[in-house]
Amino acid sequence: MTDIGATIWFTGLSGAGKTTISTEVAKILRSRGLKVEMLDGDIVRQHLTRDLGFSRADRDENIRRIGFVAQLLTRNGVVVLVSAISPYQDVRQEVRQKIGNNFIEVYVNAPLATCEDRDVKGLYKRARQGEIKFFTGIDDPYEPPFKPEVECLTEKENLEQSVAKVIEQFDVLCSNAAVASACL
Ligand code: ADX
Repeated sequence: MTDIGATIWFTGLSGAGKTTISTEVAKILRSRGLKVEMLDGDIVRQHLTRDLGFSRADRDENIRRIGFVAQLLTRNGVVVLVSAISPYQDVRQEVRQKIGNNFIEVYVNAPLATCEDRDVKGLYKRARQGEIKFFTGIDDPYEPPFKPEVECLTEKENLEQSVAKVIEQFDVLCSNAAVASACL
């Protein structure tokens, strides 16, 4: 296995399963001896992007900062697992272009009703009651990716299946990178 830097970017609604899948992917990649770092929206927002809210401008800034860190780590041989709603296509595209080839977009796709039923953090209920404004999927938009490398349908498939899809795509990226470096 080539020790390769890459960014695996999980996008999707709150409660779709981004953190759950990325945590499992991290375990597998670490067990292979790879350097792995997780950048999770909920945690990053307590540190790097603490000053930001949930307007479009602030969400875009959140994603740009996460993307910047992911880019630095990626070029230093780390596999970065980003889990952020990242609701806007344009800034996701911007990050993809900055990071280049070693980028995998994973659309963690679950219907809003399912995420709302799960309501792991109780936030959907609060959003429905009007206590939280501009909540993604309720009164704020989510733009699905046009052509993600991986789509995990977390309502239909189990965790193992979703994780396997991501790992499979990572292995494709590694073998492409190995071929590319052998051709230099
Ligand atoms: S993003 O839109 O900027 O990509 P990010 O993933 O960092 O969002 O943070 C989303 C998390 O913030 C959610 O999982 C939820 O816990 C919390 N949150 C608080 N307010 C909102 C809101 N208005 N919309 C979405 N998530 C919110």
